[in-house]
Formats: sequence, C-alpha cells, structure tokens
Amino acid sequence: MMINSIRLQNFRNYVDEIIHFMPGTNILIGDNGQGKTNIIEGIYYLLTGKSYRVHREQELLRWEQSDFHIYGQFLMNRHKVSLESHYKDKKKMVKINQVACQRLSDFVGTINVIFFSPDDLVMIKGGPAERRRFLDLHIAQMRPGHVSILNAYNKALQQKNALLKSYNDKSFKYSQLQLWNQQIIELGKKIILNRADLTERLQGAVEPIFRNLSSEKETIKIMYYALGKSSVSEAISEFANLLNEKLDQEIERQMILIGPHRDDLQIFLNDKPGRLYASQGQQRSLVLSLKLAELELMRQEKGEYPLLLLDDVLSELDRFRRDYLIKFIESSKIQTLITMTSADNHLDLGTVYFVEKGHIRREA
Ligand SMILES: Nc1ncnc2c1ncn2[C@@H]1O[C@H](COP(=O)(O)OP(=O)(O)OP(=O)(O)O)[C@@H](O)[C@H]1O
Ligand SMILES: [Mg+2]
Repeated sequence: MMINSIRLQNFRNYVDEIIHFMPGTNILIGDNGQGKTNIIEGIYYLLTGKSYRVHREQELLRWEQSDFHIYGQFLMNRHKVSLESHYKDKKKMVKINQVACQRLSDFVGTINVIFFSPDDLVMIKGGPAERRRFLDLHIAQMRPGHVSILNAYNKALQQKNALLKSYNDKSFKYSQLQLWNQQIIELGKKIILNRADLTERLQGAVEPIFRNLSSEKETIKIMYYALGKSSVSEAISEFANLLNEKLDQEIERQMILIGPHRDDLQIFLNDKPGRLYASQGQQRSLVLSLKLAELELMRQEKGEYPLLLLDDVLSELDRFRRDYLIKFIESSKIQTLITMTSADNHLDLGTVYFVEKGHIRREA
C-alpha cells in the first residue's frame, strides 16, 4: 500500500498544505515544533479514525477554526483510493472515493498503517489497557466488525454499570443484570477469540524477528490472559459461570469485576515478564519486533505491506537496532515516513522534506 499525497486543512498547525510522497522512504526533517508529528498524526487519523495523542478531535482543530479536512490519495493493489475525513460541529464524516460511509468501521482498514514512536514503550511498561489497545487496533484494521463488537460490548458494560450503581432489592433489577450479562458473554467471547487468535499469529511472526534483533539468543513469548486464565478455551467455556459467581460481589461493590475489558497480553522475555525484568534496550527490542511482526501479518493477509509511520524513532534506537530497522525498510521496500530533526543524520535513506512552521518543501 502506498500514500501518494495528503492534504491537511485546518488540522493542527496546518492551514492548507499538500504533500506528495514517494515510494520507499520519505524523511520529514525540521526543528522542534514545526509540524512533523502533525503530518504523521493527520495520516494516522485519516486511516484509523483516531489520534494516538488525544482523545478529542477538538484538539486537532487548528486554533480558532470550526472544521478540519484531511484528504489522502493512496494506492492499494495498484488501484487508486481516495480517503477523506471531515470534522465539523463535533461530528466526523468520512468518504471513500467521494462516497460517504455510514459507519467509521466501513472505512477503517481500507488502507492499513503501522505507527511506531518511542511512546510505544508503554506497551511493556504501562498497564493492560495499553496492550489491549495494541491488539484491538490491529484487529480493527484487519476485521472491521471488531470495532462494532467492541462498541456494543462497551455499551452493555455501561448499562450494567449504571444498573449496579442504582441497584436495589427489586427482583426485576436482578433479571435485568442477567440480561446484560448475556450480552456481555456473547460479545465478550468474540472479543476474546479475536484477540487470542491475533496473539497466536503474532507469536509465530515475532519469534524469528526477535531472535535476530537480540544479539544474545533471547526469546520473546506473548500470551493472552482471558478472564485471568492462561487457557483461552477454559476462559470461554467458564465465562458464564465466572460471571454468575461474581454477580453478588459485583452488586455488593457496585462495580463490574470480570470481563475481557480487564484482560491482558503478557509479554515475556526469556520466560520472565518483560515489564518487570527487561532493560530499556530489551524493552525497545520487544516493541520493535512486535511492530515488525504486525507488518508481516498484515502483508500475509492483504498481500502487500501497510504504510509504516515512524515518529522520532531512529534517534531513540541504538546502532544495532537502528541498522536492523533500516535494513528491514530497505529490503522490504515498504513505504515509510520517518520524522527526524537536523541532529539525526540519515538523509541518504530516501526523499527528504523540510518542515518549517506548517509548510513543507521537498528537497530539490
Ligand atoms: N490545534 C492546534 N492548532 C494550531 N497549532 C497547533 C495545534 N496543536 C499543535 N499546534 C502546534 O503545532 C506545533 C507542533 O507540531 P509537531 O508536534 O508536529 O512538532 P514536531 O515538528 O513534531 O516537533 P518535535 O521535533 O518537537 O517533535 C507546535 O508549534 C504547536 O504549537
Ligand atoms: Mg514530533
């Protein structure tokens, strides 16, 4: 997959700017605060419907503006695809090839993307929510239905939660709780199976990558823990029982205590939890190899690589890992956008773009 161009209107510090990209590596270079990350964020937002930096679109709007537009021209299997995202009056509208999509899930996954920045270390160091997000984002790009399932599941959780908060001894409330539990089980099983399936496939892809990336013969192992269990089939078959067992406790504490919204993906280095024992460099290797494994899985499934967006990554990696990443990008011919400041010196990698105060100029 390839991005031919992006146009940002009233997005962050961009008034109206078009950038035409080239196959291979595209380097966005500029001083701090000029708008390099904003370009990456704009492309990511267009393709996933989300920003990785903020939760509210309001912050993406150029100051004092009321709507923003992002237009992108892409190639998928050599066919042109145009995508458009328009945000106005707290609503987002998306179009594929000029045709409006009813739901965001019809749109996400059209063109796939992998984003990597130093902040992704939270995947190791942060809480389970970060790792669930990692899995869900990948699945959402490959199986659009996953977003609808997650949304419906979260709605059921909210309803159950509200009921728990207002619970009294009236018997109809008890049966209502059980009704929500039915929905939670039905949707929750699908979420667990999707995540467990991805974990298994990622494990296969990440092993050889990690072996090459760690100079010593270290191993990575990832395991999805559903409902606190290491066996997914056990979790699925016992889901209803577990929910039933917890119900009285949930009523007493007025909170939901069990479900895939509390699951975790454990990442092990040499069979020990990476979160507790991996050094900074080893954590980087774990995350980088998982990202590269995602690229491989997407290529296997879609027949071509997704776009690769790297924000401030090169300066953060040591030489060995940097060379590995560069070698991967060059040998796979994956289209990559890399941001760097003038302190990094990798301009020979590809086409260079200078970013200054929200304007882009391609090196002649
Ligand atoms: N909503 C907004 N409206 C207008 N300008 C904004 C908005 N949000 C951020 N900016 C401006 O965008 C600039 C930051 O852009 P960006 O994060 O892309 O910088 P960068 O080039 O990646 O810098 P660094 O090298 O420090 O990462 C800042 O000058 C900031 O003030
Ligand atoms: Mg930046």
